[in-house]
Amino acid sequence: MHQPVLLQEALDALAIRADGVYVDGTFGRGGHSSAILERLGPTGRLIAFDRDPEAQVAARAMSDARFTFHRASFSALRAVLGAQKAHGMLFDLGVSSPQLDDAQRGFSFRSDGPLDMRMDPTQGESAAEFLARAEEKQIREAIGEYGEERFAKQIAAAIVAARRREPVVRTRQLAELVAQAVRTREPGQDPATRTFQALRIHVNRELEEVSVMLPQAVARLAPQGRLAVISFHSLEDRIVKRAFQSAARPEVPRRLPLRESEMPVPTLRIIGRAQRASEPETRRNPRARSATLRVAERTAGSLPDNRIEPGARWRN
Ligand SMILES: C[S@@+](CC[C@H](N)C(=O)[O-])C[C@H]1O[C@@H](n2cnc3c(N)ncnc32)[C@H](O)[C@@H]1O
Repeated sequence: MHQPVLLQEALDALAIRADGVYVDGTFGRGGHSSAILERLGPTGRLIAFDRDPEAQVAARAMSDARFTFHRASFSALRAVLGAQKAHGMLFDLGVSSPQLDDAQRGFSFRSDGPLDMRMDPTQGESAAEFLARAEEKQIREAIGEYGEERFAKQIAAAIVAARRREPVVRTRQLAELVAQAVRTREPGQDPATRTFQALRIHVNRELEEVSVMLPQAVARLAPQGRLAVISFHSLEDRIVKRAFQSAARPEVPRRLPLRESEMPVPTLRIIGRAQRASEPETRRNPRARSATLRVAERTAGSLPDNRIEPGARWRN
């Protein structure tokens, strides 16, 4: 089961019109998608994305003519949507509970399984493959940067020493290595939490995905279309916050003589403050504790071409 986080807040943020076209960029098990479909009339449309083959299986079970699913990364938004504009887009980032709970996916340090961690296990390198081939420095940087882990140096050294003896290929094996390398304990948190978060972000290129997706999403929103993003850690939220701010208050290049008509125009208007889950929701669903929802609305302003080139991204 996956309980959708900030469900009512996300629906309010999208300000759904019955005949609108909506995008759910992170289908998961379809919690948000189902609620969006309930609010759409017969001519409304919902286009969903997820790169996980198991999300695709769940999506096949939704027999609704207004719904289409693409097994694709949301960074392929532009390629999939083409010229199609949407009245609202939702991105509920990170991993779903079924991904975390299935030991065979390798996301969790709580149960033993293969050290995989790929949202799409048919693409790219697993966490075990990364740990087998990366230099110690790369491992240290990934754990330090994406896990904000103080003991990244010690953990990377422990992994490299361990892999000389035998390959590091199981989740519990890694969790135990990390527990020995991390000297202090954070209250209520397993010592492997930060390392697992870091490897997951690295393996799935999560921050790059968000950075590449955001300008494409803005470019595919109809005027007054809403963009709602739920993030689960500060690295991700920082990218969303900065992207919204720079689209809402684009920088005017210094010392460049610009005519009025050449001045960069805001392409987003930020709606409200960042929202967190309510106390009752976090009690019901501990995953909601770290969720932050940011919402913005598309202005009528057009985008300068350089903002929507393939691979265009905001600084993070
Ligand atoms: C938090 S869950 C979404 C749960 C969903 N809102 C629900 O109510 O069931 C995030 C989902 O997004 C998917 N995902 C994460 N990053 C993605 C990306 N870059 N492209 C496509 N799907 C992605 C994951 O596979 C996962 O299924």
